Amino acid sequence: MICVCMRRSEMEVPVDEGHFLSMLIKIMNAKKTIELGVFTGYSLLTTALALPHDGHITAIDIDKEAYEVGLEFIKNAGVDHKINFIQSDCLQALDKMLSENPKPEFDFAFVDADKPNYANMHERLMKLVKVGGIIAFDNTLWFGFVAEKEENVPEHMRMNRKAFLDLNKQLAADPRIELSQVSIGDGVTLCRRLV
Ligand SMILES: C[S@@+](CC[C@H](N)C(=O)[O-])C[C@H]1O[C@@H](n2cnc3c(N)ncnc32)[C@H](O)[C@@H]1O
Repeated sequence: MICVCMRRSEMEVPVDEGHFLSMLIKIMNAKKTIELGVFTGYSLLTTALALPHDGHITAIDIDKEAYEVGLEFIKNAGVDHKINFIQSDCLQALDKMLSENPKPEFDFAFVDADKPNYANMHERLMKLVKVGGIIAFDNTLWFGFVAEKEENVPEHMRMNRKAFLDLNKQLAADPRIELSQVSIGDGVTLCRRLV
């Protein structure tokens, strides 16, 4: 059985995952990205540093206070001009974007919010991310618990474990994407939009 005690710092992607995402964004020559789930902005800062000077990130989180904690570091890094922070529930913000401008405009999406809603975010992002672009879902191995029997999983981790088991099956069977499950952090699933 795996023992997990969640600290606030564990909300952020680990450093090696941050480097991986940064490298990926540079290899792709991504210019326009979207991040769902910002917290204090560690993955956001990593992405902003990886994008070119005229790159742009739409960053969505329901919690503006947490974003403002990290904003000072983003400003010190000189990349705040690339970020449009939207304080909103993710699905509501995506639905608003789709109703205002239903065109695929993003090269890259990083999803790290509200785990049980990843499948719903996927459907919306499939309309907002360009063909050939990447949707990256964080935590898809959920601290390794997706490989454990339910009785070995702490109760407070079970709902998300179930959500990830369902999501992983759904993504693996989705003919609209090509998928790579990367075992970094507690799992990042890269979905490349094919159609
Ligand atoms: C794991 S943290 C994000 C960490 C960040 N990506 C990083 O690596 O530094 C998850 C964030 O998702 C936000 N969140 C959770 N549910 C949400 C929802 N339904 N809509 C918008 N944001 C949400 C929380 O407020 C929290 O800041």
